[in-house]
Amino acid sequence: MKNKIKSYELLEFAKKYSNERKFGVALDYLKKCAKFKEFSKEILFEKAKIFYELNELDKSCRYFLKYIKNSSDVVLKANAVLIVSKIYKIKGCYDKALFFLDGMDKTPVLPQWEKERLDVSYYKFNDFFKVHEFSGDAGLLIKEFEVIKSIRPKTQRELFYVSRISNYLHNYEFTKKLINEQISLANSSDAFYNNAILNEFEIASKTFLLKSKPRGLWIAPGSKCNISCIMCFSKDINWELSDKNIKDIYSYMPYLENIVWWGGEPTISEKFYEMITYALKYKNIKHTVITNGQYLPQKFIDLVIDNSIEVAFSIDSVDKNKYEKIRYGASFEKLMENIAKLKPLADKKLLKINSVIADYNAKEIKYILKFARKWNFRTVSFIPMISKDIKNNMLKRTDDLNKIDKMIGKDAGVEVNSSIKILSGENCGIKCATKGFCHTPWSYATIRYDGKIVPDNLCTCYRKESFNLTDSNFLKYWNSTYMTDLRKNIISRGACSVLCPQANVLEKIKK
Ligand SMILES: C[S@@+](CC[C@H](N)C(=O)[O-])C[C@H]1O[C@@H](n2cnc3c(N)ncnc32)[C@H](O)[C@@H]1O
Ligand code: SF4
Ligand code: SF4
Repeated sequence: MKNKIKSYELLEFAKKYSNERKFGVALDYLKKCAKFKEFSKEILFEKAKIFYELNELDKSCRYFLKYIKNSSDVVLKANAVLIVSKIYKIKGCYDKALFFLDGMDKTPVLPQWEKERLDVSYYKFNDFFKVHEFSGDAGLLIKEFEVIKSIRPKTQRELFYVSRISNYLHNYEFTKKLINEQISLANSSDAFYNNAILNEFEIASKTFLLKSKPRGLWIAPGSKCNISCIMCFSKDINWELSDKNIKDIYSYMPYLENIVWWGGEPTISEKFYEMITYALKYKNIKHTVITNGQYLPQKFIDLVIDNSIEVAFSIDSVDKNKYEKIRYGASFEKLMENIAKLKPLADKKLLKINSVIADYNAKEIKYILKFARKWNFRTVSFIPMISKDIKNNMLKRTDDLNKIDKMIGKDAGVEVNSSIKILSGENCGIKCATKGFCHTPWSYATIRYDGKIVPDNLCTCYRKESFNLTDSNFLKYWNSTYMTDLRKNIISRGACSVLCPQANVLEKIKK
């Protein structure tokens, strides 16, 4: 009994000093307390808490796991699980964090559980979104939505995140109800989230004339290039973005989540450096630069490494002869030299490959994937070659192409994206939600290398008509008759045409 009283006192002293953040003293008391072989579980819990505060996460996690295994105190155990999941979240182990969160008894800590559950979900899935695109595993996203849809968002970011997933999975009624219920959150002070939530609401409400601004842009500062690829149209064009339009684009920067820089070749364009430097003031924007990788001056290398910018190398073959035949004027050695210069980005998983696939390189796919793994690229995007003759856009199905489809969103050593399957007119799984429609014209705009604007760079709608920036201006585009007609048309049909490589709603059109 005496021992129990003594060790209880020691434990209380340890807790007191721990609360005062005098962790060294607290640990000394815990050590003395342990000698009495009493309160061993409580000691474990206190130690774990202290190491968490000291940022010794591995140690803290070990103690907490031991505590969870042995304890029957429901409240303390739930708190321990919450901290363990936080530790796994900090370490980027989101699946482990979710394993503990979903398996725990959440009754005693429901509000904290909900906050943590949405937070881990955000970190696990949000990175796979680029405005209207999702490059992760859609099956997992559906399962995730089933869990998070019952959690009431408490911040603007959470409200935006849940609405974005809900809309992506075409649950439009749910999105509208959710945003309407949280209207005070939707209209808070942050311009970026206000716009993003309004945009999701306007998609869900099938609005044609938008109050929200675009959330993503592809920007071609000009058409000029340093090589002459066999499949590219930009080489025949001489166009540059005007200063007036650059100013208009700047006014949309506070609302943007993503900019993809292309051209022409951005690395040789002064306007590219001027615009990206301006855009870097806006911290919500994730940038990607698409380059042929032939000319990367030091100022480009410093820019992308210092600002952790994603770089997409266009590589349609990893065979030197074939590469140089497709990319006329390019050198394979130069490409390899420049990839090596961006190693710090490869280490941060910020390098990707864009491969334009036609019949002449469809057999290269496995070698491109092998190359991507070897040089630590995060993603490979296979893009169908667009040709002026629409019939030529249909790639012949091959075993290699079928294999790509199976890899999308799955672990193939790299993330694999592909627009090819959809273009070939086959069933496209989850993306073909029959109740949905293509959202791209609601949230995205692509300024092409010829001064035309279309929703997405792979849009086929521009073939019929297009909005010409040179004769007008960027601000007029968003609610122009061209765009409102396009939106109306898409709502009634699901997408512009079966040939659209981006449309998520092919089944609806086929019916
Ligand atoms: C026009 S380039 C501009 C950026 C840069 N010059 C480059 O090649 O990466 C942008 C992307 O379009 C791809 N591309 C070129 N011609 C294409 C075509 N006919 N169909 C589909 N994509 C094409 C390129 O391979 C590249 O990945
Ligand atoms: S490098 Fe890019 S812009 Fe230049 S010709 Fe090739 S695909 Fe076109
Ligand atoms: S359906 Fe296709 S062509 Fe039409 S807007 Fe969407 S992406 Fe563009």
